[in-house]
Amino acid sequence: MGRIIALVNQKGGVGKSTTAVNLGAALGMLGKKVLVIDDDPQGNTTTGFGIEKSSIGASVYDVLMRQASLSDALRATEIEGLFLAPATIDLAGAEIELVSELSRETRLREALSPIAERYEYVLIDSPPSLGLLTINALVAATEAIIPVQAEFYALEGLSQLTRVVNRVREALNPPLHVSGVLVTMYDGRTRLAVEVLDELARYFPEQMFKTQIPRNVRLSEAPSFGKPVMLFDPKSRGAQAYMALARELLEPAKVHA
Ligand SMILES: Nc1ncnc2c1ncn2[C@@H]1O[C@H](COP(=O)(O)OP(=O)(O)OP(=O)(O)O)[C@@H](O)[C@H]1O
Ligand SMILES: [Mg+2]
Repeated sequence: MGRIIALVNQKGGVGKSTTAVNLGAALGMLGKKVLVIDDDPQGNTTTGFGIEKSSIGASVYDVLMRQASLSDALRATEIEGLFLAPATIDLAGAEIELVSELSRETRLREALSPIAERYEYVLIDSPPSLGLLTINALVAATEAIIPVQAEFYALEGLSQLTRVVNRVREALNPPLHVSGVLVTMYDGRTRLAVEVLDELARYFPEQMFKTQIPRNVRLSEAPSFGKPVMLFDPKSRGAQAYMALARELLEPAKVHA
């Protein structure tokens, strides 16, 4: 069984989508079979892989509404072995339309289970909220990675997020756990960033990735070219950091708390 990883943080702009695109791409370039699921109506991960919104047929919305299978929605990417299930703004409607439906929290898991074994890694990007789309990501996953921006308010909301992960584990998904906390947009020259890192390490002593993602302008430019950063500028610090993160994820020694 492969690893199914939900990228979650209800705080916006912390690097969830940047991580979905570039960690996915890095794993693909290391020869892994990877599926990235865009479970956010903003569709930033979809854009990040250069998929035109107007070209999308079946999307994650149709999958959650049981109007299409996940296989129907899959798109190949520039990286061999890496596939994407794209999102469009329609997905915002799913959050509302699913409210009255039975099994609303398990739709994504249900859609993923017939094809999950084809992939060594499934990464699920989620929106900046703790609503039904994020719950679906957590129910479908075996583990959660929390990207955290190294800034003053970084820890705010993390105890609420941890509680939601625990509730989902208890009610619906026993294997679920927070396997990693990823510091993004890190600038080791500022004292604040270093302090935030220390504080996170106290809060998540087992889960901190050794790799931090530096603030790097190439990471923010790459999506407008529809490319993961390692295809856009492989030598950039951003590309190297995501490659290092992928290698760290592959390490069998990585502790899974
Ligand atoms: N390491 C980085 N260095 C520089 N810019 C970054 C980095 N990581 C992300 N960004 C930029 O910061 C912004 C927010 O990142 P991203 O979209 O990945 O966050 P998010 O958590 O997915 O946001 P949302 O919650 O809205 O979905 C984007 O413009 C992105 O290009
Ligand atoms: Mg995002």
